[in-house]
Amino acid sequence: MGYKEQIQKDRIPRHIAIIMDGNGRWAKRQGLARMFGHRQGVETVHCITEAAAELGVEYLTLYAFSTENWNRPKEEVDALMTLLVDTIAKETPTLMKNNIRLQTIGDISRLPQATHDKFVACIEQTSSNTGLRLVIALSYSARWEIIYATQQIADAVKKGNMLVEDINEETISSYLTTAQIPDPDLLIRTSGELRISNFLLWQLAYAELYFTDCLWPEFTNEDFYHAIVDYQ
Ligand code: FPP
Repeated sequence: MGYKEQIQKDRIPRHIAIIMDGNGRWAKRQGLARMFGHRQGVETVHCITEAAAELGVEYLTLYAFSTENWNRPKEEVDALMTLLVDTIAKETPTLMKNNIRLQTIGDISRLPQATHDKFVACIEQTSSNTGLRLVIALSYSARWEIIYATQQIADAVKKGNMLVEDINEETISSYLTTAQIPDPDLLIRTSGELRISNFLLWQLAYAELYFTDCLWPEFTNEDFYHAIVDYQ
């Protein structure tokens, strides 16, 4: 019996977050440039997104570009930004067809204009879709997000709009970029690294963590179902 058949339909994790790691290593193993790994990684994104939507997962959050990723060589950053624009252009009809709503978390003001505008347009176009919420973390890091939230909370206190003693878990959650999103139930990280890498530090407090040696470009739907069965 495959893993898909073992999934209990009434216990699907509501929110799955994924650290998609290993694109570069996958490409290197084939003797190819790193960008081939990222392009193949996009194919995996397509398959896993459709699989999540079909299962009835409500939120799928993908770590596509971290704040630290800005430090990569300029050619790789530029090529990744172009790949993101091309992917959104190509995949918007798929999102519409599958009733998927796109959202981003992170400091998207740092993105090149073309990438920024493409995401904003796709977010707008898919805003009435009621199925899976696909959340792409772009120029995101948890520490950036916590600093930004702290500044806003301090500002509200300074202006007299909030009392220090009223600050609680809900307050902090509501100031994070994930304010409208429930915390992840399951975090998947590919490529064998056993780290969180500055991803959703506050939100992952109670999540199940699932690590696999599989590199992201070779991560299949069956691997995804395996992670869900393991979670259940
Ligand atoms: C990690 O592999 C992957 C990334 C930094 C980028 C992932 C981005 C995509 C797959 C494109 C996503 C597209 C959409 C629309 C969500 P790595 O380069 O760190 O691999 P390595 O650790 O083997 O070097």
